[in-house]
Amino acid sequence: ETSQPTVTQLGGRIGARIDGVRLGPDLGEETVAAIRAALLQHKVIFFRGQNHLDDDGQIAFAEQLGTLTTAHPTVNTGSARVLSLAANKGMAANSWHTDVTFVDRVPAISVLRGVAIPAYGGTTNWANTVTAYESLPEPLKALVDGLWAVHTNDYDYAASAEEGDAVNYDKDNVFRRQEFTRIAFKTEHPVVRVHPETGERSLVLGHFVKNFVGLNTAESHALFQLLQNRVTKLENTIRWTWTEGDVAVWDNRATQHYAVADFDTQYREVRRITVAGDVPVSIDG
Ligand code: SIN
Repeated sequence: ETSQPTVTQLGGRIGARIDGVRLGPDLGEETVAAIRAALLQHKVIFFRGQNHLDDDGQIAFAEQLGTLTTAHPTVNTGSARVLSLAANKGMAANSWHTDVTFVDRVPAISVLRGVAIPAYGGTTNWANTVTAYESLPEPLKALVDGLWAVHTNDYDYAASAEEGDAVNYDKDNVFRRQEFTRIAFKTEHPVVRVHPETGERSLVLGHFVKNFVGLNTAESHALFQLLQNRVTKLENTIRWTWTEGDVAVWDNRATQHYAVADFDTQYREVRRITVAGDVPVSIDG
């Protein structure tokens, strides 16, 4: 199974589909290099029809992209490497975020496999945080270039929950939150990081941001909204409608994502594996 991958761009700023690859171990240097190049260029890439993959196959594929991290710093996943995100267990991610930014070494790459996909709803959206930075007017770039933000897993969950939003309010979810925050992490990152592989500048924000260093809560909130609006502008995003066996791979150093909780009580499960990353470096080095 060594056919060369074909890359089809899906959006103007982010997203591509890759065909002609059967994911698994031993893809070969050329194929891995092509996948990596597409990932760095398009920020999130999608593979259809990978139904042959189980957890081990997903791990074997991901290992070719880098060293894997533990499944999650606080949630007991029952597996060293695989984080199962099942909505009925409160594992909903319906607000914009970059994975695990509350630790020093933010994961570089995430690999997500669609295991159980509802008949409707449950899409995932990604946003390009490089183009979000590049499209800022100069005065805003000057503002954020030297700015730092505090990221924590103990952020204000209630702020993103909406009334009547069962996913955010069910009691399992409350339990999950307790587990999620059982060790409180708090880390400062530059708001603008230099991507270690592409050299591009990228905004490091998302829902784990608590405040900006030196700004008060109200100022932090206002600036956060302003910048997040830039990141999540629809032209800057791509939406993926899942089919079982799909695999999404995203560059966690250049994206945010949002899983849409619009699938009522249907079962949805996706499984995530993360590749270790570096401490984000500011433009001052
Ligand atoms: C995640 O935040 O990694 C989960 C995305 C999803 O459930 O689609």
